[in-house]
Amino acid sequence: MKTDTLFHGESCIHFCAIFPDMEATDTAFIRALPKIELHCHIEGTLEPELVFDLAERNGIGLSYPSVESLREAYSFTRLQDFLDIYYEGMNVLRTEQDFFDLTWAYLVRGNAQNLRHTEIFFDPQGHVDRGIPFETAVLGITSALDRAEREFGISSELVMCFLRHLDEQEAFRTLDQAEPFRDRIIAVGLDSSERGNPPEKFERVFQEAARRGYRRVAHAGEEGPPEYVYGALDSLGVERVDHGNSCLEAPELVRRLVREQVPLTVCPLSNLRLCVVESMERHPLAEMLDHGLKATVNSDDPAYFGGYMNENLEAVAGALDLGRDQLVQLTRNAVDAVFAPQSRRQALNDELDKFLASADG
Ligand code: HPA
Ligand code: ZN
Repeated sequence: MKTDTLFHGESCIHFCAIFPDMEATDTAFIRALPKIELHCHIEGTLEPELVFDLAERNGIGLSYPSVESLREAYSFTRLQDFLDIYYEGMNVLRTEQDFFDLTWAYLVRGNAQNLRHTEIFFDPQGHVDRGIPFETAVLGITSALDRAEREFGISSELVMCFLRHLDEQEAFRTLDQAEPFRDRIIAVGLDSSERGNPPEKFERVFQEAARRGYRRVAHAGEEGPPEYVYGALDSLGVERVDHGNSCLEAPELVRRLVREQVPLTVCPLSNLRLCVVESMERHPLAEMLDHGLKATVNSDDPAYFGGYMNENLEAVAGALDLGRDQLVQLTRNAVDAVFAPQSRRQALNDELDKFLASADG
């Protein structure tokens, strides 16, 4: 995939600000690196072409006349701008086949980028609240995950997110709807509009999810203050923090995250497109690694933010002049942070070792 076709519309950034230093970036190394993704919303992989295909298949009218005009609308200055268009885009997902096609398209791209393991998010409330049964989404998504494991050897886990702009009762209802699929969903997460929806709002739901055996993650510190990262740790008991950028405003919090080796699932192109950072050169990823934070790189909503795993790694490596050691550290951090069984974690580590031995030789 050519990177220059990935950027669309006017927003707070310019193409040249993203890849100022592409020649110097070790693109061949990045592309060949075995990759692990821990923060990707499957609904955020919905490319405009697929929006149009699914709209036609399901007889749905769109408010954009063309794929290009839809892409041009992907111009954001904050998280809420994106979320409005993200929820609108989801409306074309109606059948199990639609969810399969969505997930399969992501995995085919992942395979082309040497993705070896992924732990994807989905937003059941975004579907159930439009009248799409919970099982339609889960069955479509999991059948694509199963096929990718068979055909590509890409292993995966599924994380169910609660929409934090909705209330606690609705999250409890979603937890109950997930019961028949308990064996397919490894963790619960928390996403959507962060400001004004602190983690504490979902403390009891997360407690109940833990009691039922779910692992826990939550978005925190993307637009919200460091207090929300503390809230995710202390009220929700999360094992990984999704984003976590604002922790750098609080030295004591950084020390704790380092001490406890809490993984952060950082999303560079997302941060740029949502204006969480001013430019890629000012992205805090290198600083996070320097502190000893367990940072990882992820794509978040790649169809909306201009790139999948390779593009995120290339963008951040180019802008921050990351060397191979740092790229490998980011990947090791991701291996350590997976929720997959220990045997799979070991296999992913072995694969990385083998790759590094061959890259050296
Ligand atoms: N932040 C919060 N909620 C989301 C995101 C995000 O980046 N993507 C999809 N839902
Ligand atoms: Zn996210």
